[in-house]
Amino acid sequence: MKKTRSGLAWSLLAATMLAAAPTAAAEPATTGFPIVTTTEDGQPIPRSAGLPYAPGNLADRIVLTPGADPARAMAVAYRTDTAQTVAEVQIAVSVDGPTLEEKAKLVTGKSMPVDSSYGPALYHQVRFEGLTPDTVYSYRVKGAAGWSEWFQFRTAADEAKPFRFLYLGDIQNGILTYASRVIRQAFHANGDIRLVVHAGDLVGQRDDLDHDDEWGEWNQAGGYNYSIVPQVPATGNHEYVDDILPDGTESRKLGPYWPAQFALPKNGVKPVEATTYYTDYQGVRFIVLDGTAAIDLGSMQAQTDWLDKTLAASKANWNVVLFHQPVFTCARPNDTAEIKAAWKPVFEKRKVDLVLQGHDHCYSRLTGEAGRDANAKARADGMIQGPVYLVSVTGSKMYKLNDRTPWQPDKVAEATELYQIIDVEPKKLKFRTFTASGKLYDGFDLTRTDKGNRLSEITEPTLATRRCSGEVGPDGGACVASGK
Ligand SMILES: [Fe+2]
Repeated sequence: MKKTRSGLAWSLLAATMLAAAPTAAAEPATTGFPIVTTTEDGQPIPRSAGLPYAPGNLADRIVLTPGADPARAMAVAYRTDTAQTVAEVQIAVSVDGPTLEEKAKLVTGKSMPVDSSYGPALYHQVRFEGLTPDTVYSYRVKGAAGWSEWFQFRTAADEAKPFRFLYLGDIQNGILTYASRVIRQAFHANGDIRLVVHAGDLVGQRDDLDHDDEWGEWNQAGGYNYSIVPQVPATGNHEYVDDILPDGTESRKLGPYWPAQFALPKNGVKPVEATTYYTDYQGVRFIVLDGTAAIDLGSMQAQTDWLDKTLAASKANWNVVLFHQPVFTCARPNDTAEIKAAWKPVFEKRKVDLVLQGHDHCYSRLTGEAGRDANAKARADGMIQGPVYLVSVTGSKMYKLNDRTPWQPDKVAEATELYQIIDVEPKKLKFRTFTASGKLYDGFDLTRTDKGNRLSEITEPTLATRRCSGEVGPDGGACVASGK
């Protein structure tokens, strides 16, 4: 679906680019995106909370990602200034004294330039292969001025074994201001999170300008947690930026930071190997799809076929699918028709357990299209639970709930920042949703039986549904949710 940029948008963009031309020309921009540091009338654009995110002679933005088999493979991506020209990482099986250097092995990788508002940088990626399952390793990464601290991670076990993962919706807005406390609360209140899954729109970039500050905030918000816990990100529409095709029509292309920041398994499907993949973690197959490329860039059929094949081949106890644009929306007037038509039948046929999504900046847990009461009755009558569809949001942008939310989802929230903790066991999956301040908001358990999943509501008390009442928000102040 290509749109032609309007004349007004064109002239605004041209004016912005002209105003920025002296600054952009002074700095190299190998990303191909203009770097705008001043407004049209020459005023400096304030950078996120005034924080400098310049690359330095020590590494930053250190993000661990799982391999396809995280029992044996992990990867790390990090950033330095251009003085560190090679990707160098040391890794060792962890010991308990300060002697990690003695047996550390040097692993090298590849480096790629990304120049931005904060100056030229190199992103480095190193893959760890041939690791021993269920083993604690330490690694450190090199900048021109020396090594980082040692970061520690545990490889996955080679079998289905209980573990905990964190699911985050759109971080995107108020990344440092507001989303950071949610991420930190999640880690602070819940020990031994082994994976983090992100349902897209990690940042708010969209136009064809530089967005380095947002990636700086994203990394600061998660901090060292991103270096010690493997991250499983899905792209949202905001991981894509505008692209003007030779014929003048507007399209989208993946922004420059995604392939630099995440050393993903690349075991997905052409032409979207950078954004589709799967990883098998202790009895769960996580499958990551790219809704934007499917809807707007022509890869729907390829992704649908790959999804079906990847689910059919799964030997996992649980199959979790992660992508951005939700099948069932909680904010928009209509569900995401293309995805609903293509992927929902596959989820049902292949008995997917959880569908984790974002995009709508509200919360929704939906256990069946017929609606909450009908689903509850059907469950009481012995219904096998199909895929459970979740939508959630972490950052500060909020949308108003749509007119289906009073009856269709089991639980919804408006104007509420949330995180989700999922405890996985071979036969049980415990899903819990918490508010930003750590209050239990929603939850259910899925139990695997020979006939299929049974869903049970939890007995612990949860907060009452949070939604705006007119102009008043659920905390008694202004309703900050806007209509979609
Ligand atoms: Fe979003």
